Amino acid sequence: MNKTFLARIAAFACGMLLSFSVLAAGGGNLQHAGTDISDRASLQRGAQLFMNYCAGCHSLKYLRYSRMAEDLGLTEEEVMTHLNLTGAAFGDHIVSSMPADKASEWFGQVPPDLSLITRVRGSDWVFTYLKSFYLDESRPLGWNNTLFPNASMPNPLWKQQGLQHAVYGEPDATGEAPVEHLEISTPGTQSPAEFDQTVRDLTTFLEYAGEPVAIKRQGIGVWVVLFLAFLSVLAWLLKNEYWRDVH
Ligand code: HEC
Repeated sequence: MNKTFLARIAAFACGMLLSFSVLAAGGGNLQHAGTDISDRASLQRGAQLFMNYCAGCHSLKYLRYSRMAEDLGLTEEEVMTHLNLTGAAFGDHIVSSMPADKASEWFGQVPPDLSLITRVRGSDWVFTYLKSFYLDESRPLGWNNTLFPNASMPNPLWKQQGLQHAVYGEPDATGEAPVEHLEISTPGTQSPAEFDQTVRDLTTFLEYAGEPVAIKRQGIGVWVVLFLAFLSVLAWLLKNEYWRDVH
């Protein structure tokens, strides 16, 4: 291995690091979601919130109710009475009951399936998006969003969060005033910290829905590490045994 080769590898590694940091910085003002998919209580609360506040418009078309029950430690009865609000069968996929033609009429488009949303946008994006709605009379449904400007989705969690309005900065050259920050003008049923947890639970559930096997994989990971640790001890004992005669 000559020096130029090593230098090339080093340059390549630096380039990779640099592009990663640029990509990471591209996240803008995203807030940290702080999700933990091994937190079963959070997942269960998230599932309930999703069914109550999102499933009317959005589907999770790759996830079945039965699979969700198994992964989240819920019984068939619990799922069928509290989480399945569309009358679908236990083995069915989680599909919204909103007719697509009505949806495009109401929102200008069909609400997207959310199965892969945290993988496409990232958990921090989803977390921040759900916290960034504000009242805007110029929009058809009266809602806008600082992270996703002119999104056609109304704030589904306004009761919990309260009503948020925008505080505008100085108008720029085009005469448009940018949103400087958001303020809660009418408090909701939850404190900001409680609301953060609500949105975190929802994001955790969506993260799980994007990759249901991840929960099991993490569980298996712990055993693999324990097994390797055990194997290391055995190997060390064996080495001592072999070297005893040499010394
Ligand atoms: C009244 C219908 C409705 C409800 C209820 C609703 N949404 Fe939406 N949602 C929409 C529509 C319509 C869009 C498309 C917005 C656009 O592209 O302009 C959307 C977009 C989104 C997006 C962005 C998808 C993208 O394009 O990247 C996310 C994330 C999302 N919704 C999450 C949720 C969550 C989580 C809930 C429940 C707390 C929820 N939505 C409840 C209608 C709804």
